[in-house]
Amino acid sequence: MRVAMIGTGYVGLVSGACFSNFGHHVVCVDKDGDKIERLKKGDIPIFEPGLNRLVADNVASGRLSFTTDLTSAVPDAEAVFIAVGTPSRRGDGFADLSYVYDAASEIADSLKSYTVVITKSTVPVGTSNKVEQIIRQRQPGAEFDVASNPEFLREGSAIEDFQRPDRIVVGADTDRARNVLRALYRPLFLNDKTPFVFTSRETSELIKYASNAFLAMKITFINEMADLCEKSGADIQDVSRGIGLDGRIGSKFLNAGPGYGGSCFPKDTLALVRLAAEFGAPSRLIESVVDVNDNRKKRMAEKIIDAFGGVKDKTVAILGVTFKPNTDDMRDSPSLDIIPALQAAGAIIRAFDPEGMVEAGKMLPGVVWAKNTFEAVSKADGVVILTEWNEFRALDFTLLKSLLRRALLVDLRNIYNPRDMVEAGFEYHSVGRSSVKP
Ligand code: UGA
Repeated sequence: MRVAMIGTGYVGLVSGACFSNFGHHVVCVDKDGDKIERLKKGDIPIFEPGLNRLVADNVASGRLSFTTDLTSAVPDAEAVFIAVGTPSRRGDGFADLSYVYDAASEIADSLKSYTVVITKSTVPVGTSNKVEQIIRQRQPGAEFDVASNPEFLREGSAIEDFQRPDRIVVGADTDRARNVLRALYRPLFLNDKTPFVFTSRETSELIKYASNAFLAMKITFINEMADLCEKSGADIQDVSRGIGLDGRIGSKFLNAGPGYGGSCFPKDTLALVRLAAEFGAPSRLIESVVDVNDNRKKRMAEKIIDAFGGVKDKTVAILGVTFKPNTDDMRDSPSLDIIPALQAAGAIIRAFDPEGMVEAGKMLPGVVWAKNTFEAVSKADGVVILTEWNEFRALDFTLLKSLLRRALLVDLRNIYNPRDMVEAGFEYHSVGRSSVKP
């Protein structure tokens, strides 16, 4: 099958590479000429485990290519995906759909024979209808269907998520469109292990927002319970396990931390709040989630300052700045709230992140960037773990202690056990558990 993927951001690039790996011929299109030149040379603009290799293999097999010219990719394609960005609109938090609508107009001008135009970008309920209207207005005679097929990929494990998804959601109004989507996902459809949810386009669009909002709510819930644990002497790790073993609740996404970040949850929860209000069905629950999470990120700096007994003129070593491990993505990362607040309180920040420092360097002025963990902690007045990269999970505490001015660890991801830290001679502060001292 011939596929055009409009947009080579995170979703478009991963999906394009994975569809080509399923055996389809995929042309990825982007207006950004520099990016396309880089991609043609095999230079992948984002850090995503396995993506370099997947792109290289499929380019070599002739099934994956890149262009800035939409008009050369769309006419031959049986399926055209719109995978452009839908950022929060400045000022009101609505999803900005201008890139989606621009793409729809350009696609309309290039349609030749029956094509399914599929929105993969996260878009508010009703967007696929609007895309259909745009195309119909621009080319009334075009033979096409519009479908919705949201993605549920997590950064850092996107390829695995694409190849072994929990489900595929397809919103389409005609059998013809549904059959094209079945053919696109044929390897998953055939193995019988992947549930397919065929539904209306509006429902499909809402499933995406509802999924992200629910997960964000789950995280926010456990974070509030963590606060309660800190006040009451309970242990959040045991609370998570104790409730997560109930099959109706489930154990995933119950890790307490500094608040959710990333390119999706903050933007999508806000967009859902606006969408729900617009439809006259306001979501007080998700409004609270947005609010509680924003406040939490801000409060984390105070937690660190308290643990240090004030940070004025002290060196704080920060391990991890990306919003989660295995990505270089800094969007809405808790570190963007925490580090400036520590600086404002007088701290000198020395930080290390395995992949995020180039991006972070542009967003966090005044930070001294270290080459590795040990350079970051050397003569610091304490260490703070903000992101749970694997390499921070097995630190050599004897060495660390010898390098630090004070054996103090603030672990905002609960990757260590308080008892072990006391044994290692560290004062240890974590989330939703009592602080301990040797
Ligand atoms: C999220 C969803 O998990 C994907 O299913 C979805 O496709 C994607 O958004 C999207 O809409 O494109 P992602 O943002 O890559 O994926 O990352 P997550 O693994 O969901 O983590 C989001 C944030 O929640 C991170 O800041 C993470 O640290 C935090 N988190 C996650 C917690 O604090 N606790 C948890 O238990 C889980």
